[in-house]
Amino acid sequence: MRWSSKAVSLICAAGLVVFGVVVATPAQAAGPLKTVAAPRGKFIGTALATDSLANEAMYRTVAAREFNQTTPENAMKWDATEPQDNQFSFAGGDQIVSFAQQNGMTVHGHTLVWHSQTPGYVQGMNATNMRAEMQAHIAAVVGHWANNPTVTGWDVVNEIFNEDGTFRQSFWFNTLGQSFVADAFRAARAADPDAKLCINDFNVEDINAKSTAMFNLVSSLRSQGVPIDCVGFQAHLAIQFAFPSTLQQNIQRFANLGVHVRISELDVRMLNPETAAKDATQAQYYTNVVNACLAVTNCDGITIWGFTDLHSWIPGTFSDQCCGLIYNNSYSPKPAYDAVANAFGPGPTDTTPPSTPGTPTASNVTATSATLNWTASTDNVGVTGYDILRSTGGGAFSQVGTSTTNSFTNTGLTASTTYQFEVRARDAAGNMSAVSSPVTVTTSAGGGDTQAPTAPSGLAASGTTQTGTSLAWTASTDNVGVTGYDILQAQGASGGTFTQVGTSTTTSFAVTGLTANTTYRFQVRARDAAGNVSAVSNTAQITTQGGGTTGACSATPTVQTQWGTGYVINPLTITNTSTSTIPSWTVTFTLPAGHTLSGSWNATVTVSGQTVTAKSVSFNGNLAPGASTGTFGFQVNRPNGNTQMPTSYSCATP
Ligand code: G3I
Repeated sequence: MRWSSKAVSLICAAGLVVFGVVVATPAQAAGPLKTVAAPRGKFIGTALATDSLANEAMYRTVAAREFNQTTPENAMKWDATEPQDNQFSFAGGDQIVSFAQQNGMTVHGHTLVWHSQTPGYVQGMNATNMRAEMQAHIAAVVGHWANNPTVTGWDVVNEIFNEDGTFRQSFWFNTLGQSFVADAFRAARAADPDAKLCINDFNVEDINAKSTAMFNLVSSLRSQGVPIDCVGFQAHLAIQFAFPSTLQQNIQRFANLGVHVRISELDVRMLNPETAAKDATQAQYYTNVVNACLAVTNCDGITIWGFTDLHSWIPGTFSDQCCGLIYNNSYSPKPAYDAVANAFGPGPTDTTPPSTPGTPTASNVTATSATLNWTASTDNVGVTGYDILRSTGGGAFSQVGTSTTNSFTNTGLTASTTYQFEVRARDAAGNMSAVSSPVTVTTSAGGGDTQAPTAPSGLAASGTTQTGTSLAWTASTDNVGVTGYDILQAQGASGGTFTQVGTSTTTSFAVTGLTANTTYRFQVRARDAAGNVSAVSNTAQITTQGGGTTGACSATPTVQTQWGTGYVINPLTITNTSTSTIPSWTVTFTLPAGHTLSGSWNATVTVSGQTVTAKSVSFNGNLAPGASTGTFGFQVNRPNGNTQMPTSYSCATP
């Protein structure tokens, strides 16, 4: 394996020894992690430590870029929030909450009632005082952030079981018996009725004695009406132990009780030294965890217990072990990072073809043309168009046109000739259906008339939108009578090829399916009953509109939450309102005076004055006709008491 010179200088500069092993920097996978996790409906978070947040720019940069959730690693624990009885200190917690708020992250509070990191003054109390102390602590700590929507939930009780499923003989249990658990949940609900309240533990990833004891407790608490909403599976895994193969099955059985589940403290440690082979095994463990959460609807997401091996609890607790996280000591992503990104990934591309179109029927058959109609195909991602195939006299089929509707008129046929037509459908992912059964058409004899209609004139376009325009022209004349008109279209102000996009039996036609901000030219020509075709009309040129809610897409805000000095719009649902696939979207809206954008996700956002412009990113721009994306959202700060909301939403493509 070769050192990249960048990796060498980084590691040398930092004076780090990676156990004598050269760890190559892997190619960065698709990311950031939050942009691949959010569309799958899962959060991806990290534990954050206050000192690293305060002292290290790189730590802040990576945390803000990659994660949309955090759990304070130590800052909300009892020893940090109430080090002396009734003397509260929220500075560390506030520091993390404010970082989260600025970066569009939610915060999961950790942890209210635990046997560890709880000061001695609590541990020595009698039962009456200890219960009152616990309730007062919960009221104060949960109450401090109860009106802050960034803090969405709490680990109420932590690590209350032994490995054999009995209750841990902690000072809580020894003094209060198991009643402290229900009392803690009730106190937390009273302090913040909106917070999601969790029980959290380690070594409960597999179905085993400990997880079954937790399952039975959660089930019993819920049947008693105790307010417990969620279960955290810490997942402090190690590659020297087998992966917990029943993880998915286990979290699913909890979800079936009606609670939400989360992977709350994920890391995957290994025995020293770190090697490429161990990193590969570690990556596989990360993949397995993400896949298990993806497979369970009520698994809300995954919090990794830190992100860089530079800052991890592991070496301090297991002196012979290391390297449990997804970035190395130099903040380079490890294979585990790629594993997480790829497991969330955009998912497999669509490979399901549309259903086969119905057998075409032929109508308006003349000496030179025939109109085909067929029953439309269906498709999981949407039919985008049809190919029309023709064979003459039993020869090979070749494509003679396309249609975005389930109808097509083929012109330029020869009199008294037998043709066969078939159609096939295409979808947005490019999959092609099987071809329909053929319809046989024999053109009429022609009748001797060889005089073509006059060319249509005065062709003009009006009412041009982002996706369509209306054409009208002056009728042609013909010795035996005009039977219809062909509508021809070319893209651009010059060049290109005119192809037939429709037919009309009147002197007007509505063109649809155009792309915004694009120039097109149109011509029409007339046909008579004998199949004679006129010269083409004059050319009408248009450029479709570039924006507006009446165009190809719409933007609909949902106010997810609001408080005195701010609000979150999530999602801002973008819907493709046109009849063709859009490759990308741009939404603009206006913030009321005094409101400032404090965060956004899953769009590239620019702000000019009070106007916000949000452009789709790689995974949420492409929308089939009628499809929506609910991945983009944003957070705004506003003056206290000002209850205005953004206005003038408009959506345009591209
Ligand atoms: O901040 C002090 C520092 O001032 C002092 O000089 C130093 C000396 O030891 O200690 C520092 O505090 C340490 C603290 O982390 C902050 O780094 C504590 O000693 C140390 O015990 C504490 O460890 C934390 C551990 O919980 C406590 O049990 C780890 O950071 C934290 O990652 C770990 O997290 C737990 C979860 O809360 C629950 N599940 C298991 C998980 C891993 O053990």
